Amino acid sequence: MEKFRIRGGRRLAGEVQVSGAKNAALPCLAATLLTSEPVRLQGLPRVRDIVTMEKVLAALGESCERENGTTRVVAGSGDAHHAPYELVRTMRASVLVLGPLLARRRRARVSLPGGCAIGARPVDFHLQALARLGADLRVESGDVVAEAPHGLAGAEIEFPRITVTGTENLLMAAVLARGRTVLRNCAREPEVEDLAAMLAGMGARIAGVGSPTLEVEGVEALRGTDHTIIPDRIEAGTYVIAAVLAGAGVTVTGCRPAHLHALLDLLERAGVAVETSNDAVTVPEQGSPPRAVSATTAEYPGFATDLQAQLLALATQSRGTSNITEAIFENRFQHVLELKRMGAAIDVEGRTAHVHGSTPLDGTTVMASDLRASATLVLAGLVARGDTVVDRIYHLDRGYEAMEVKLNALGAEIERFNPGPYR
Ligand code: EPU
Repeated sequence: MEKFRIRGGRRLAGEVQVSGAKNAALPCLAATLLTSEPVRLQGLPRVRDIVTMEKVLAALGESCERENGTTRVVAGSGDAHHAPYELVRTMRASVLVLGPLLARRRRARVSLPGGCAIGARPVDFHLQALARLGADLRVESGDVVAEAPHGLAGAEIEFPRITVTGTENLLMAAVLARGRTVLRNCAREPEVEDLAAMLAGMGARIAGVGSPTLEVEGVEALRGTDHTIIPDRIEAGTYVIAAVLAGAGVTVTGCRPAHLHALLDLLERAGVAVETSNDAVTVPEQGSPPRAVSATTAEYPGFATDLQAQLLALATQSRGTSNITEAIFENRFQHVLELKRMGAAIDVEGRTAHVHGSTPLDGTTVMASDLRASATLVLAGLVARGDTVVDRIYHLDRGYEAMEVKLNALGAEIERFNPGPYR
């Protein structure tokens, strides 16, 4: 298994370019199932989850060709509708094909995603809402089997709780449903907006984008389109935090600072000087460590759960105690034990981590448990004394494009290696 060896104490300086957003690219790829015409997507990040989604689409008869940063997705002629377990088990977001398959092919068979490192993460809200659109759903040998032989029909649906992929799945189902669908208590994440923009480019009729209520007027068919994926706000936020921790003047380019509002607000409260422009965030070298600040994760526009782990690394180097509460997922503190092994002083009480800073961190071997937890271990390694080895970086490769290449270009010293089983 590949690992990173990070030499601690290197200062970072220069510019780092953000890739396209993984969590926007995944639903946009799934949305290609809604048309028989070719779709061109620009800015898909080169990360493993995207490769997995391309394999799911291949299993469903589509082909994806990449050329000069553009991916062309072409629909096949068959009516394959089964997303197999071997693929779904490696990526929960495969469930995003359920809505579009039902809408256009009128049936879908998608393996139920199993448990997951950051909590139970069921898909019950997706299934209940699709049933309201008239789908007939049952579970058969661990697969969700869904059918709508006469097509889906518009309905009024209120999600019991905000769900990002649930909102996306229903939006993709509703655009081809007969009549009008009203979706309430929707996720307002920029990734949902990006999907809505792509669907509008395909001819979908959606109102209320960016608000909690989406109104969809179903259409007969959708056409192909050219769409550019928004920049990855979580990758951008991760590099902004790296710059606060270890920077001597870093600019994160190609991002949308408006999407980072909650993080930038928090940094301001921590006394960190940050400059923003239209498409970049600059973190000048800081004269003193940040002040401790408290934060609770929330749906957008709140503080993103996908930046909680990285914030914990920053809190270990902040002056005072930061209280960080995880309100979205019930089990997203696995990185705490690894940070503690590096010398962090953290107590977890229920859903809140009390991080007592600032403590020097020592390099050691640590194990990544999920995507964002891996990122925090890399951040900690950047400021630790000595070398940190991060094991199981395949988690990182699911969502960060060439992280070590980007950080090394800023002056970090990170080596990707695999010592084999007996060394
Ligand atoms: N939930 C249910 N039932 C459902 C759906 C959700 O109980 O049917 C619960 C979840 O268990 C969770 C909460 O509702 O407690 C919110 O989950 P949500 O459905 O919003 O999460 P998701 O759509 O599965 C996406 C991102 C995650 C990100 C969350 C929250 C994608 C592909 N994934 O997941 O990204 O953490 O929204 O913002 O968009 C990551 O990139 O590392 C990642 C985990």
